[in-house]
Amino acid sequence: MTSRTRADDLFPTSRPVPEAMIGRSKDVAELTLLLGNGLHQVLAGARKEGKSTVCRAATARLRESGTYVVEADLMYLPSLVALAGALVEEAISNRSAPKRAVHAATKTARSALSALSLVAVSRLKHDLGTDLEVVLEPALARRDPWSYFDKAMRMLQRICEVDDTHLVLFLDEFQELGAPRHSYGDPDEVMNLMRAVLQDSPRVTCLFTGSVHHMMRDLFGQSHRAFYKWGAWYSLSEIESEEWKAGLTARLEGSPISFHEPALDHLLELSEGHARTTMLVAQQAYLAALTDGAALVDAVLVDAAFEMAERVDAGEHELHLRELRGLGRHALDVAIRIAAGQPPYRAAGARSVQRAIEAVAGVGMIEQRGVHGRGGWVVTDPLLRRFLARLWVG
Ligand SMILES: Nc1ncnc2c1ncn2[C@@H]1O[C@H](COP(=O)(O)OP(=O)(O)OP(=O)(O)O)[C@@H](O)[C@H]1O
Ligand SMILES: [Mg+2]
Repeated sequence: MTSRTRADDLFPTSRPVPEAMIGRSKDVAELTLLLGNGLHQVLAGARKEGKSTVCRAATARLRESGTYVVEADLMYLPSLVALAGALVEEAISNRSAPKRAVHAATKTARSALSALSLVAVSRLKHDLGTDLEVVLEPALARRDPWSYFDKAMRMLQRICEVDDTHLVLFLDEFQELGAPRHSYGDPDEVMNLMRAVLQDSPRVTCLFTGSVHHMMRDLFGQSHRAFYKWGAWYSLSEIESEEWKAGLTARLEGSPISFHEPALDHLLELSEGHARTTMLVAQQAYLAALTDGAALVDAVLVDAAFEMAERVDAGEHELHLRELRGLGRHALDVAIRIAAGQPPYRAAGARSVQRAIEAVAGVGMIEQRGVHGRGGWVVTDPLLRRFLARLWVG
């Protein structure tokens, strides 16, 4: 198997795909333009709709144009020290190759450093100045995480000034900063500090992304929050059917298998154009054709692929079930009703149901597509919707 024929390379489903994205080129161009012009952006949306993909494609463009980029995914950074360390590492890695040697240098005993690294460390320390050079000392992180984070944030502007450039700070899964478990310390304190530093960092432009719609709204839309009215809200456009069809067809160019055009319509009907589900069903349809020895993916194989996709996600669906149970007494019941197209307000008293709906929307599993005030809640992922709807017992 080569990367031109491996299903996961052709139709990746477990990571952002900035290099292989279908559609949304206007979103990428627009975000690149807005961020390149110093306008902070906040992008919140349902799960797996392709947020990270578009943002990474935009930051890749910005890098190409010479803008520095600092990217951190809070999902993988468990503490304030880890976040600060990632900021420092990312910021330094924007600089030219010899300076990049500095990063390794900060983690190695002085006596083991090459002359090149020693010179690079000295230069970087000089550039940062006496107040900020301590970000290169891991000991500070252990001794005083708060001060380390403060200096890591402030070094972004300093590096831009020294190198006479601008920088985009992309924080993915931003809502983790405000999560109730307080992994980064008190959310208000962390965000007040960030806002204060960013206010004094005119060369730093932010792109904050999150899956948890309500939490993002709470962090950016409530007057007592540090990031109240910070930046503009950016909404992703739909990936058009024609774009999906052209993109999925192109994926199979040079492989012995191709999509029958009506089968692609059927695939999009089933996946509803949901980004990850569409890629997953396409991936499974490709596997179904390989299994079947077929050269053409037809509607029958697409139907089989949809069932196969459900099986692939079975483990994840069980996890969602647990997550829903953990959201309070009525959350699972309400989610099942919504998935089954039943009125959620029959589950319990109006207040309890409202709270349950907010909790489920808060974790990005449902969104409101109908007329606001009249419900219209939908489980966004069609595969999860089917799974939950099957649990409806009337
Ligand atoms: N533009 C696109 N073209 C093709 N596939 C896409 C696109 N955007 C997303 N996908 C598919 O969806 C999957 C998830 O994408 P991504 O990680 O960008 O979504 P997300 O909204 O950031 O997800 P999460 O809610 O986990 O943060 C990808 O692995 C890919 O299969
Ligand atoms: Mg993401």
